[in-house]
Amino acid sequence: MHITTYDHAPRLPDGEIVDLDALIPGEGGVFLEVGPGRGAFALGYAALHPETRFLALEIRRKLAAQLDERLQKKGFPRARCFAEDAGLALPRLRPDGCVIGAAVHFPDPWWKKRHAKRLVVQDAFITELARLLAPGALLLVQTDVEDRAAAYYERLAACPALENTVAGMYAEESPFAPARSNRETRAIADGLPIHRMVFRRR
Ligand SMILES: C[S@@+](CC[C@H](N)C(=O)[O-])C[C@H]1O[C@@H](n2cnc3c(N)ncnc32)[C@H](O)[C@@H]1O
Repeated sequence: MHITTYDHAPRLPDGEIVDLDALIPGEGGVFLEVGPGRGAFALGYAALHPETRFLALEIRRKLAAQLDERLQKKGFPRARCFAEDAGLALPRLRPDGCVIGAAVHFPDPWWKKRHAKRLVVQDAFITELARLLAPGALLLVQTDVEDRAAAYYERLAACPALENTVAGMYAEESPFAPARSNRETRAIADGLPIHRMVFRRR
C-alpha cells in the first residue's frame, strides 16, 4: 500500500520570528486566512486579487500541501499555504500591521467541552491577529454554529483593538464576497444561517 504522509507540505521557516516580507515576494500588505480547508476561498481570492500577497495557515498537512500546489499551478506565486497550527504560528509573524484583511471561515468543527483547549478562536489568537492587522483592516469570522458564534462574538468584542462594523452582532454578507470558502458555499446552498462577524482594526 502506498501511504502519502505529505511531509513535503510547505512549512514556515524555523526560528522565533517569521518575516512575511521575506517569505512572500511582492509589495503591499498580506491577506491572511486561517484554516482554509479545501481552499475555495484562497483560490477565489487569489483569482480576484492576483497582485495581493496571500497567506493561508492550515493545520492539516495534506490540505495545506494540496492547496499550495493548486495555487502555484494556477499561477498565483504570491498566494501561499503553509502547514501550520495558526495558534502557534501567528505569534511568530512580523511585521506588525502587515495584514490588510483576514478570514476565519467555519473554524473549530470538532468543538466539544473537553476540546476547548484546541479551539482556534481564543483570546490569545485574537490578540495576535489584532497585532498583525493594519489600522482599518477587516477581520471576518463566520460559522453556522449559533452558540459558537455567540462565544466568538464575545471574545472579539472584548478586544480593545477591534470594533464591530455592523449595528447588530452579525453582518448580512461577507466583505470578501464573491470569494467564498467551501463550507460557506455549502451552507448557502443548504439554506443554513451563517453568523458572520466583521470587525475592523482601530
Ligand atoms: C470546518 S473546516 C473549514 C474549512 C474552510 N475554512 C471552509 O470554511 O470550508 C476547519 C479547518 O480549519 C483547520 N484548522 C483547525 N485548527 C487549525 C489550526 N489551529 N490552525 C490552522 N488550521 C486549523 C482544519 O484542518 C480545517 O481545514
